[in-house]
Amino acid sequence: MLAVEKIHTYYGLSHILFGVSLEVNTGQVVCLLGRNGAGKTTTMKSIMGLTPPKQGRIRFNNEDVGGREPYLLARKGMGYVPDDRRIFADLTAGENLEIAAREPKEGEGWDKERVYGLFPALRTLDSRRGGFLSGGEQKMLAIGRALMGNPHFMLLDEPTEGLAPALVRILGETIGQLKEVGLTVLLAEQNVKFTLGLSDYGYIIDDGRICYQGTVKELIENEEVRKTCGI
Ligand SMILES: Nc1ncnc2c1ncn2[C@@H]1O[C@H](COP(=O)(O)OP(=O)(O)OP(=O)(O)O)[C@@H](O)[C@H]1O
Ligand SMILES: [Mg+2]
Repeated sequence: MLAVEKIHTYYGLSHILFGVSLEVNTGQVVCLLGRNGAGKTTTMKSIMGLTPPKQGRIRFNNEDVGGREPYLLARKGMGYVPDDRRIFADLTAGENLEIAAREPKEGEGWDKERVYGLFPALRTLDSRRGGFLSGGEQKMLAIGRALMGNPHFMLLDEPTEGLAPALVRILGETIGQLKEVGLTVLLAEQNVKFTLGLSDYGYIIDDGRICYQGTVKELIENEEVRKTCGI
């Protein structure tokens, strides 16, 4: 579904990603692990077209999408949950969901009711303003909002960051459910235990380079390698 081929991304003159390549196949949850500042968010933003790479290729459903605007990628079925959530503080939780609604291309789509089915805790917050939600509630809302666009593929940037253990568990179950209904996911995380429990395949990024890649079994067994890669 997604193939990132040797991308180089910069912020101004700072060279951040050095030839990052990764692949995500349909129906998989693939993780991108890495310590603080390793380049996870930059990789996600490069894929979503927010920080277009200067070199390399990004293919999505066999189409070259490098340099495309984020809204075009969203139309093609790419969903993005940024690490900083970007919830509208003055809109209610319900309104935050409604403004993101997009007709599904085919089959059953996501609506507010379906999002509340996935996150029952959000239903009771329907009329609360986004700015008054807790960090965990905002995380759930940000995922719900991305689902309202009916993506086939979702970029999830550090969903567990700052969440209490009980919420981390619920989030893990939710991602499992999304996979069951056919969503393909690229998950950027620092929380190794949470992430490996959910993923089919994983990459470790360090200093803007892919340091290791392997099956979940290989990633679990190779603790030495994980340490070398800073995770
Ligand atoms: N807007 C920016 N301008 C300049 N440098 C940036 C910018 N955003 C990030 N960087 C730098 O790019 C590098 C990679 O950052 P990135 O946010 O991709 O890492 P990360 O793996 O997502 O880290 P974290 O776990 O802290 O979210 C870091 O050295 C960071 O300082
Ligand atoms: Mg990040």
